[in-house]
Amino acid sequence: MSSGAAMSLEAIRYRRGSLAILNQLLLPEQLRYEPVASVERAWEAIRAMEVRGAPAIALVGCLSLAVELAAGAGPTGDAAELETFVGERLRFVVTARPTAVNLGREAQRLRDFVRRRVRSPDVTAQGLRESIIEHIEGLLEKDRGDNRSIGAHGARHILQRVPEGGVTLLTHCNTGTLATAGYGTALGIVRALHGQGRLARVFCTETRPYNQGGRLTAFELLHDRIPATLIADSAAAAAMRDRGIQAVVVGADRVAASGDTANKIGTYQLAVAARHHGIPFYVAAPSSSCDPALPGGADIPIEERPGKELTHLQGLCLAAPGIDVWNPAFDVTPHDLITGGIVTEFGVFAPGELREALAERAAAGGQ
Ligand code: MRU
Repeated sequence: MSSGAAMSLEAIRYRRGSLAILNQLLLPEQLRYEPVASVERAWEAIRAMEVRGAPAIALVGCLSLAVELAAGAGPTGDAAELETFVGERLRFVVTARPTAVNLGREAQRLRDFVRRRVRSPDVTAQGLRESIIEHIEGLLEKDRGDNRSIGAHGARHILQRVPEGGVTLLTHCNTGTLATAGYGTALGIVRALHGQGRLARVFCTETRPYNQGGRLTAFELLHDRIPATLIADSAAAAAMRDRGIQAVVVGADRVAASGDTANKIGTYQLAVAARHHGIPFYVAAPSSSCDPALPGGADIPIEERPGKELTHLQGLCLAAPGIDVWNPAFDVTPHDLITGGIVTEFGVFAPGELREALAERAAAGGQ
């Protein structure tokens, strides 16, 4: 175990054959990396939220398979048998959490990749194994690159509305380095504005009940010396009215074809309050968070977490014992409240344009 702000902040540490995750249940008190040597361990870490955030969940799920394959797991003699093994491992790991689509999408892409490779006449099991590991390793760099693009597109769009001076933002949950391979999505926009000297301040919500804002986002922002203020979730509307918020930027766990977006519980009420105050509301989402096969937000499965996450804090009971609890981890923001736009690695789109824009990119060879 080690601690201290001097350490570089990464949710995921990977080199071929070895994967470790920063145990986010221990933050901000401790920076402790835990080994993940199997798909089962990745499943547990995702379910328990030792690692969380849609892109990081996808990366850890896939990288755990790469680690197993590098250690020689699965059939060694026959490529088709290896394909079956990989398919089974992926089918299992995607069940860890239901709302974020990224892991499901990456698993599907990997299965498609394996199917194409198995069909090629000169494929060997060893060659297939190597190429699967390389495919998975490529996801880390792609995620970092996508986040940089999201940051640049989002910052440019916001600055069109605020041509001079510093911008004051509000964000929710944690969408930063700790939720991705690095840099972040909504927090990537914050970082891009800060890097350009155009961020006045970012307000981050505490994000009850799991406190991703207070524990993780505040920690990241302090680590990077970005001017930030923590607020209770219940202070958000007041901050919009009294603290000069000029845009709200949040992440996404799944964006349906309509542009309706599932994100951390509390996002919807932020969008309602932003509409009331005439503040543009942005969703930052890599295309891997988009699910054009789902028509609208009502089709997105919403995870419900144990009531204890609401009633207890680090073992201390904060609520009347025995009270009934409803604890959805996410909510859906209807597309008409996403007034700023959906910021992807390809650009910023109105919710109604997103599906077509992504289809065009896919046809042009993007993802
Ligand atoms: O329950 P969590 O912490 O996994 O929820 C995370 C969020 O809702 C994020 O906003 C989303 O996954 C995007 S992270 C880039």
